[in-house]
Amino acid sequence: MTARDIFQTQFGHAPALCGYAPGRLEFIGNHVDYNGGLVIGAAIDRGVQTAVARRNDRRIRVFSPAYGTPVEVELDTLKSQTDASAWANYPLGVAWSLQKNGCVFPSGFDLAISGDLPAGAGLSSSAALELSTAIALRELFGFKIESAPLARICRQAENDFVGMPCGILDQGVSMFGAEGRLVLLDCRAETFTTVPVPASARFWIFNSGAKHALLDSLYAARRRECESTLAILQKSRPAAKLLAEFSSLDIENHRAQLTADQYNRALHVTREIERVRQTVAALEKGDLPAVGKLLVASHQSSRELFANSCPELDFLVDHLIKLPGVYGARLTGGGFGGAVMALTTPDFTAEAAEPATAAYTAKFGHAPVVFAARTGPGARVL
Ligand code: GLA
Repeated sequence: MTARDIFQTQFGHAPALCGYAPGRLEFIGNHVDYNGGLVIGAAIDRGVQTAVARRNDRRIRVFSPAYGTPVEVELDTLKSQTDASAWANYPLGVAWSLQKNGCVFPSGFDLAISGDLPAGAGLSSSAALELSTAIALRELFGFKIESAPLARICRQAENDFVGMPCGILDQGVSMFGAEGRLVLLDCRAETFTTVPVPASARFWIFNSGAKHALLDSLYAARRRECESTLAILQKSRPAAKLLAEFSSLDIENHRAQLTADQYNRALHVTREIERVRQTVAALEKGDLPAVGKLLVASHQSSRELFANSCPELDFLVDHLIKLPGVYGARLTGGGFGGAVMALTTPDFTAEAAEPATAAYTAKFGHAPVVFAARTGPGARVL
């Protein structure tokens, strides 16, 4: 069902309009966004729709069939929800963050959600829901906000209302994605550009189904490790504000002052940024085999230095890269479970992946969910 149909059925009248935002692949640049580095992502051809209409009072009702009963709150006293209503923090957080950034809501609103993005697969269904909500509310109430600040408002919702200390990757890619292009984010300058991807490139997702129970706290722990490393490096360069301002050579030069974990995390970040630069150059030349090698090197670094992979993801990558037609594969997103992304030739198929998926099923007792993703347009009003 479309979000419009869900809205009509749930609220008994037609919505005013519908927003849409895509999910994203993290193509390369793992855990570098909040360190101020370069990341490449792709908006995919799956996403989240939100149908909205104004109300005559100052209430908000949000409804998603995936979660059952609607969540109903007051616009002027928005607070994070808990337990069975916690899912609603993504759209509610956007309304909260818009207000924090000076948007005055003339009334409350109703909002209904639909989508074809699997949750928990590392494709950022949460950012897609935030962006889709933000796009719909901007249009509904005529807020004058450009797209880059709107993406930042969504990140603020996730950081401060949902409580997940993510970087700008997911929101930036979902906002600025384009068909046939990858989004290049410079997270230090917070600029978003796109680079073309050769038409023959194909993207495959292998959702491992694994999810670490401590996912959010492990992500936050990695962030803190990066911050504590930065604090040590800053002693020799106080003007530096971000890990990305240091080179791999700087990290080597400070090795004696860092713990083994700090050294590994920082080296992952600086080398990963170098790989992103090399990926841009290889994409410009249309050299997909070279891009594939960089993807594999990125995974290796996440596995060994950043320690955010897991046996399921490693198994998938190890088996996929042996298959004909696969240029490279790596974990995509925060890690500790979630999905692997593979870059392939156009003739690659789900059947061609079977040696890897069957071996995975035999080892882990469940099959990975496999699908092809195409690049697609960024967030927009439908
Ligand atoms: C998650 C976060 C992003 C980014 C990636 C890792 O997807 O939401 O901001 O940090 O992990 O690169």
